[in-house]
Amino acid sequence: QLPCTVREFSEAAGVPASQILRILMEEGVMATMNALIDDDLTELIAAELGVNVELKEAVSVEDELLANIRDRQDDESELVPRPPVITFLGHVDHGKTSLLDRIIEIDVVSGESGGITQHIRAYTIEKDGKKISFVDTPGHEAFTEMRARGANVTDIAVLVVAADDGVMPQTEEAISHARAAEVPIVVALNKTDLPGVDLNRVMQGLSTNGLLPSEWGGDVEVVKTSAITGDGLDTLLDTVLTVAELHEYKANPNRPAMGTCLEAQQEAGRGVVAKIIVQNGTLRVGDVIVCGDAYGRIKAMYDTLIPEQRYEEVGPSTPVNVTGFDMAPGAGEHFYVLDDIADARTIAEARAESNRKVTLSGGAQHVTLETLFDR
Ligand code: GTP
Ligand code: MG
Repeated sequence: QLPCTVREFSEAAGVPASQILRILMEEGVMATMNALIDDDLTELIAAELGVNVELKEAVSVEDELLANIRDRQDDESELVPRPPVITFLGHVDHGKTSLLDRIIEIDVVSGESGGITQHIRAYTIEKDGKKISFVDTPGHEAFTEMRARGANVTDIAVLVVAADDGVMPQTEEAISHARAAEVPIVVALNKTDLPGVDLNRVMQGLSTNGLLPSEWGGDVEVVKTSAITGDGLDTLLDTVLTVAELHEYKANPNRPAMGTCLEAQQEAGRGVVAKIIVQNGTLRVGDVIVCGDAYGRIKAMYDTLIPEQRYEEVGPSTPVNVTGFDMAPGAGEHFYVLDDIADARTIAEARAESNRKVTLSGGAQHVTLETLFDR
């Protein structure tokens, strides 16, 4: 059900907008021409004006053009195993990037400004012939959104907790994101190389937050790690892979791709570069794609670790940098591949239009009398 605006109501009912705004004002609602009025208000205004309204289930362009692509269920026979997506979450500086660096044997940390991850990183690696995808999120409190996004695209959350610091605010926040996403949590109790750390205290903190360690009789695996010495990293990876094997994650590579945008920006000389993760289907160069109110045709796809490495197609659970969007899609937006570029444009434009309405009506409390009764 899409609410309509004051203007739309006025045009549909043939009643001056000022009259509608006056009714709204009597109800204590300060509104503008472009303000959205919900169902209850619509009925109230209709009653005041003595006009009949019929509230119809709104069929948006999006639903019409996207519904069968988005809602198509895969047949069991179409599903094949896909790599697990593993996200590192936790408080700032607890060692997420360092652990991941050790696991994939690169050094991202020393290249980060102030050692704080400001981007959402995502890589696929191969371990013993099996692919695994990792997502690294920032722990800084300013990046709530990115942690939420990380949690939403993940199969398993690795909660990194530093032994010297214990459970901190963003640790708790990460726990609730992982819970909301209904994914299993494996704890990496990190920095165990530091002298004088009290591991029991950290375990106590975890228990208080509903994560009872298995060595205390609970069902949460807590792996003691050190990104500095490398201790516990094999166990961590094994634990995570065991959880992954229990779940047998599957996807259908033989359908148009769909997934989520992790982040996107305009880059000089390259246009929009979007980091996206394919969650189902196969994405190919040349595909028509829509993501939020951005759309386009995939021009090129690049590895997220090795920028020179290009791909013609990528399958489920793969993060990849893509070019070809007309503008940067919003992070966290879902993307879909369509047949027709005209449909993609229609959807993108319809969304941009409804975003605009929402933005305009968002300022409704600050209207002055002039703007209230203009036109
Ligand atoms: P944000 O991305 O800012 O949230 O931090 P992060 O969780 O990715 O932490 P990062 O890997 O950047 O590590 C923060 C600091 O802790 C760095 O100086 C690391 O060298 C150090 N560190 C990480 N892991 C360990 C560890 O196991 N032992 C010790 N002693 N130091 C560690
Ligand atoms: Mg980091």
